[in-house]
Parts: sequence; structure tokens; C-alpha cells
Amino acid sequence: MSAPEGTTVHSGGNWAASAAHRLKRKRRVGALRKMATTLPMCVVDYMDTTKSPEEEDIAAAIRAVRGRLGDKVLILGHHYQRDGIVEHADYIGDSFMLSQKAADSEATTIVFCGVHFMAESADVLTHDKQAVLMPTLRAGCSMADMATLEEVERDWPTMLERGGWSDPALRADPSAPADANDAFLVPVTYMNSSAALKDFVGRHGGVVCTSSNARGVLEWAFERAGERGAVLFFPDQHLGRNTGLKMGLEEDRMPVWIPAMGASSGLDDARIVLWHGFCSVHKRFTAEQISEFRTRHPEGVVVVHPECPRATVEAADADGSTEYIKRFIDAQPPGSSIAVGTEINMVARMAKEHPDKHIECLDAEVCPCSTMYMIHPAYLLDVLERLEAGELPNQVVVPASVQEGALLALERMLSIIE
Ligand code: 13P
Ligand code: SF4
Repeated sequence: MSAPEGTTVHSGGNWAASAAHRLKRKRRVGALRKMATTLPMCVVDYMDTTKSPEEEDIAAAIRAVRGRLGDKVLILGHHYQRDGIVEHADYIGDSFMLSQKAADSEATTIVFCGVHFMAESADVLTHDKQAVLMPTLRAGCSMADMATLEEVERDWPTMLERGGWSDPALRADPSAPADANDAFLVPVTYMNSSAALKDFVGRHGGVVCTSSNARGVLEWAFERAGERGAVLFFPDQHLGRNTGLKMGLEEDRMPVWIPAMGASSGLDDARIVLWHGFCSVHKRFTAEQISEFRTRHPEGVVVVHPECPRATVEAADADGSTEYIKRFIDAQPPGSSIAVGTEINMVARMAKEHPDKHIECLDAEVCPCSTMYMIHPAYLLDVLERLEAGELPNQVVVPASVQEGALLALERMLSIIE
């Protein structure tokens, strides 16, 4: 089967001519209010629920092969997946909930419709005899790629030395609560990171967090760091900073660590060292967009993901994981106006599910996660058909050498529910 396109492609106009460009841009912004991505070469209308005959055929074929495979297969889908995937998923959720579903599953095969770090975590949390497959292995996460094991291992001794901290790995029990006078540096990695980094964290007495339990995880980590200790939080500086602020920490106690360069300020009084990572989708949401929405909808409410920058989270009415955002929107009364600062496939789906509410994406230019969008129904069908033929295509296999530490760090995460 040839590579799926996933977008409707139109020929471009003369974008060099400035008058025509301005006119097109004006039309573009107007159209985007209806939740479309309009670039010179392609248009995606996220509100469009119609399927082409080819898309209908693919959906019918997925349903048929899925039915024949029965309970042996579990299909997990993240909230950012396109509608053509969501309709086939057994569970849709945030990364915390999907890890729980993987850990609890008895299915022989899990097909993970999300990004690579999520499938890796599912592989670590399932039994050896269970296989985790992805519709395409190319769906990664640019934020997860912002911290590599090589970089973290290279910078770790420098951080310990500059902060005057000890490595929890040197203790008899690396994850035991600290004494008051201890000063350990406890690593906390966001779920959006490789299994190799989760293993590093597990071996150094640390823990994985997701956007739904970041506060509980930081409390856990501070208990292990001691009063003079600190937490290394990576890769997402925004989730780390936003959570630290909610816990009452001053921003100047959360310096940013730029890989290979060092910290933005001294580490003497640091309580959280923030790795210099970010999500390019959530970075686009701003406090200015929120005030513009409030001007148009004075009674409206704003909910954003905590991967957004500090000013955006502070200007919003609420923030939380994708599952939290879904529940927040579900709970608003009919007639509400809601602006949402997260990925467009999810926002558009919420708008379609709640025709009695006005729901819009905070960013008029609209933000798809390009790697989540790589999971096309044609790839899902291909994987299911090959599975039925006895193959294990696109299997995600976390090497045995990193399984143990990654499992420790993930199991600690699953035990911390907020
Ligand atoms: P959630 O855990 O909130 O689903 O977030 C995952 C993610 O990648 C958000 O960009
Ligand atoms: Fe990664 Fe951002 Fe996409 Fe989430 S939205 S998967 S953090 S790139």
C-alpha cells in the first residue's frame, strides 16, 4: 500500500505578490477560526467528518480485520489522534491512562496509536510475551528528542558538583526518603522521553511523571532529595516550572539547564533544575491569545495544557493533562464558550462532540502535532492485516539492558495518583 497523504492538496497561488498575500492571509485567519490548517499547499479541515470512498473502504477493512482478531488485540489511542484512528481505539486517553491500560491488559498484542515514547512505555509495562506495535515507527516526539541519554549522562556529574549534591544511586536504597540534612539530586523525567532515559532515572532513585501527576511526583521526589537537595526535571521546562510555581516555589529557584552550557543562574539555591526542552506545539499558545478570546467572549473560559509557557498557564482558568482538558470541557454547561490551548485534532473533536458549546482553539493559526498526525488509518490497517498473516510488524522492543530501570521508574509513576 502506498504512503497515505492525510491532507487535501491544492495548488498554491502567487505568494510572492504582497497584496495577494495579505488578502489570502486575511481569508486564511477567517477560515482557521473554523479550525482548518491552511498553508499555501494544503488544506485540512479538522471539523469535516465526511469520508472519501477510499477512507470508507479503509475504515470498513479495519473493522473487519479487527473483528477477526478479537480480544487478542488491544488498540490504544492518544487524544491527539485523528478521528479516523480514534473510531477504532478500545481506549482513548492521556499518556498516564494509556500506560495504565497497557499495564492491565492481557491482550497478546497492543497496537499503540500515539508516539514512540508511549509505545516504549507500554512495552516496558507489559509481559515479555505481549508485543507492542505501532502503525508507523516514525511517529516520534520532538520534545522527547531534546534530551538524550548521552547528554544527560555527560551533564549529570557537572550538575552534582555545581549544586553540591550527591547521587542517589550511591545509597543502599536509591529511592528511600531522605534525612533532613541530606542533599540529593533526584532525576524526574517527563513521560515524553526515551526508555533509555527512564532507565537512567530508575537507576538513580528517580521517577517518571506525566502531566496528570506531576505535582504528586515532585512531592515524592523532594522527600527523597532532602531539604538541601534538588530535582532535575527533564525534558519539558514548562511542565516543570508550572508545577513548581503551583507548589509555591519562586521562579529563581528553578534555573534552566542548557545542555553542554550549564545553568541560566547559580545552582546554590536551586530546588528544581529545568532541562531546556519544550513542545513546539504548546509553545505557540500565548497570554495575548487568551486576552483576545476574552474580549470576544467575556463569559468564556480557557483551559490549556501545562506544556504551555508560564504566562499562558497563569492567564488561563485551568490547566491539566489531555484527559483533564476533556473532562473540563465535558463539565461546562450548554452555551459555554471555551478556548482550548492544546493540539487541534483533540480540540476539533471536542467541538464536534459538544455542538451545544462554542469551542475554539486558542491559536488561530492552529497547531497540529505533526508526529501524532503520522498515524494514518492506512498504516493501522496494514499493521492489523500483517498481524493476521502471522507477522509482528513495527514492533517496539525496549532493549533488556534498559528494561529494569525504566520499569522501576514507571511503576513508581503509576503508584502516584493525584
Ligand atoms: P498527556 O499526558 O496530557 O496526554 O500529554 C502528552 C503529550 O504529549 C502532550 O503534548
Ligand atoms: Fe511531543 Fe508536543 Fe507532539 Fe506532545 S504535542 S507528542 S509533546 S511534539
